[in-house]
Amino acid sequence: MAVLRGRLTLVLILSLNCCFSFPTVLSSVTSDGFLQCLSDNIPVGLIYTQGSSNFTDVLVSSVRNPRLFTSATVRPLCIVTPVDASHVQAAVRCGRASGVRLRVRSGGHDYEGLSYRSERPEVFGVVDLSNLRAITVSADDDERPVPPTAPSAWVDSGATLGELYYTVAKNNPELAFPAGICPTIGVGGHLSGGGIGMMMRRFGLSVDNVLDAKLVNASGDLVDRAAMGEDHFWAIRGGGGESFGVVVSWKVGLVKVPSTVTAFNIVKTVADQGAVDALTKWQDVAPGLPTDITIRVIIQGQRATFQSLYLGSCSDLVPVLNSSFPELGMTSADCLEMTWLESAAFFQFWNRRTPVEALLDRKTSLSTFTKNKSDYVRRAIAKEAWESIFSWLTMDGAGMIILEPHGGFIGTVPDGATPYPHRSGVLYNIQYITFWSAGGEQEGATATAWIGSFYEFMEQHVSESPREAYVNYRDLDIGENVVVDDVSTLDSGRVWGEKYFAGNFQRLAAVKGVVDPTDYFRNEQSIPPQSTASRRRPGISLD
Ligand SMILES: Cc1cc2nc3c(=O)[nH]c(=O)nc-3n(C[C@H](O)[C@H](O)[C@H](O)COP(=O)(O)OP(=O)(O)OC[C@H]3O[C@@H](n4cnc5c(N)ncnc54)[C@H](O)[C@@H]3O)c2cc1C
Ligand SMILES: *[C@@H]1O[C@H](CO)[C@@H](O)[C@H](O)[C@H]1NC(C)=O
Ligand SMILES: *[C@@H]1O[C@H](CO)[C@@H](O)[C@H](O)[C@H]1NC(C)=O
Ligand SMILES: *[C@@H]1O[C@H](CO)[C@@H](O)[C@H](O)[C@H]1NC(C)=O
Ligand SMILES: *[C@@H]1O[C@H](CO)[C@@H](O)[C@H](O)[C@H]1NC(C)=O
Repeated sequence: MAVLRGRLTLVLILSLNCCFSFPTVLSSVTSDGFLQCLSDNIPVGLIYTQGSSNFTDVLVSSVRNPRLFTSATVRPLCIVTPVDASHVQAAVRCGRASGVRLRVRSGGHDYEGLSYRSERPEVFGVVDLSNLRAITVSADDDERPVPPTAPSAWVDSGATLGELYYTVAKNNPELAFPAGICPTIGVGGHLSGGGIGMMMRRFGLSVDNVLDAKLVNASGDLVDRAAMGEDHFWAIRGGGGESFGVVVSWKVGLVKVPSTVTAFNIVKTVADQGAVDALTKWQDVAPGLPTDITIRVIIQGQRATFQSLYLGSCSDLVPVLNSSFPELGMTSADCLEMTWLESAAFFQFWNRRTPVEALLDRKTSLSTFTKNKSDYVRRAIAKEAWESIFSWLTMDGAGMIILEPHGGFIGTVPDGATPYPHRSGVLYNIQYITFWSAGGEQEGATATAWIGSFYEFMEQHVSESPREAYVNYRDLDIGENVVVDDVSTLDSGRVWGEKYFAGNFQRLAAVKGVVDPTDYFRNEQSIPPQSTASRRRPGISLD
C-alpha cells in the first residue's frame, strides 16, 4: 500500500511540473523539432534514431513475425524507451507540438505489427515500454463482488504475461491472473484488447479484472481512473491498443487458484479415434461445463488435440468428464497434476519438465512467417461440416485452427460492460493460423491463399451481421481506416470496428471524440473520433 501512495504523489508532481505549451491543432510535421524536443526532455541514452548503431537491434527486439519486418517496412523516425512515466508524457507532448505521431509498443505481439510499423508512408516515433515492467502485488484483499475477493497488483505495460504469472505465483502460489497463453505477450497490448485464456470461463477476460490504470492522455497528462473518468476507463479495457492514450500501468484483481490443478492433452485422429464425433460433441459440452474446467482444441492435419485446465484435482475431474463428455475417453491416466504456475509453462512448452523460469524469457525469433484470422461461433457446426473442415486442413498451405470455449462467467458479463462484445451466446472463438518458413515466397503465397479461401468457406458456419472477430487477433484484411482532413473517418472505421466491437463500436467512437478529437493516437485500425459537434453535446472541451 505504501508503494501505491508513493505513486499517487508522483502523479501530482508530474502534472504540476508540466513545462510545455501545446498547440490545440497539430502543426505540420517537423521531425527535427520532434527529435530536439525529445533530447531536451528525455535522457538521450533512451532515444534511438535511425542513425544510432543500436536502432535496428532495438526495433527488432520484440518483432515476432518476419512478414512484418522486411526491407520495405516503414520504419519509425526514432524509438524512445522510457524508464519513467514522465518520459512517456514528454514523448506525447513533443509529438503533439511537432505533429509527429507515436506508436506504442509493449510486447510487440500485434498480429499486424502496428505497434512498430506503418502500412503507409508516415513519419512516426515508437514509444517502446519494455523497460517499464514493475509488478507490485498488494498485501491486502481487494473488495470486489465477483470474482471473489483476492489481492490486487499494479503491473506496468512493458511486463510480459510470463513475468506477471511468475511474480504473482512466487509471491503466493494460490494466486494467479486470467490472461493468454503465450508468456512473451506484453501486458500493455493484451489488456488493451481483452485477454482470452484458460481461466476466462471461471474468472472472465483479463479486462474483466482490471480495477484501475495510469494513462498518458492526448494532452500528455498522466491520469488514473478517477481523473480520466469512467467512459475513458471503459474504452481502454478492450477497445484495442493505441486509440485512447498510452497506458503505463494497470491495477489488476488477482484470483485465487487451488494449490493443485490438473492439465491434460488428449489427441484424437480423424481416421480411427473419432476426432469428428468428439469435436461435434465438444461444441455443446465445453461452453456449458462447470466454469473451473476449460477444454480448448487445437486442430492440425487430421488430429484434434483437446487441451484442458481444471482448477482442481484429477479425482474430481474424471467423473465429470466421464459422464458429460464420454466421447473424449478421458481417464485418470491422462491427468497431469501440477501447480497453476507450472500449468502456465506446460500450455506454452507442451512439456511439464520445462522449468517455470522459462516463462521469464523475453527472447523472440524471426524464423517463422505467420498470418492469422479469427471468428466466433454461436451455433454448433454440424458433423458433416466438420468432415469438410478437416479436408481443408490437408490442403497445400494448410496451417492450424484453435478453438477457445466461451460460456461460464464470461458469458454472464453484459456485452456492453467492456468493449469486448463476444459474450452471451458465444460457444467458442476460432483462430486460423498459417505459417511458412523464411525465404519461401511461393510457400507464403500458397499459405496466404489457403487462409483466405478457408475463411471464405467458413462464413456459412460462423457468426453473422456482424461476422465477429477478436481485436487482439488483429487482421487488416477486414478493413483499414481512411483518413480525410487528417482524421480517420467514422464510416471507414465502422467496417472493421463492428466486427471487433459490435454495438460497442459507436460508444468507443464517442469516447474517442472526447478524449482525442484530433485523432492524434492512431493507426490503420484505431477507433476514429465521432465528431463532438455531431452529437449535440455542448460544453465538451476539445482539448
Ligand atoms: C504467440 C502469440 C500468442 C497469443 N496468445 C493469445 C492468447 O492466448 N489470448 C489472447 O487474448 N491473445 C493472444 N495473443 C494476442 C495478443 O493478446 C495481442 O497480440 C496483444 O495485443 C499483444 O500485446 P503486446 O503488448 O505484446 O503487443 P504490441 O504489439 O506491443 O501492442 C498491440 C497493440 O496495442 C497497442 N499498445 C501496446 N501497448 C500499449 C499501451 N501500453 N497503451 C496503449 N496501447 C498499447 C499497440 O500500439 C498495438 O496497437 C497472442 C499473440 C501471439 C503473438
Ligand atoms: C547497443 O550496442 C552496444 C554495442 O554494440 C551493446 O553493447 C548494447 O548492448 C546495445 N544495446 C541495446 C539496447 O541493444
Ligand atoms: C498466430 O498465432 C500463433 C499461435 O498463437 C502465433 O504463434 C503467431 O505468432 C500468430 N501470428 C502472428 C502474425 O502474430
Ligand atoms: C464412466 O462411466 C461408466 C458408465 O457411465 C462407468 O462404467 C465407468 O466406471 C466410469 N469410469 C470412470 C473412470 O469413472
Ligand atoms: C488529460 O488529462 C487532464 C488532467 O485530467 C485533463 O485536464 C485534459 O483535459 C485531458 N486531456 C484530454 C485530451 O482528454
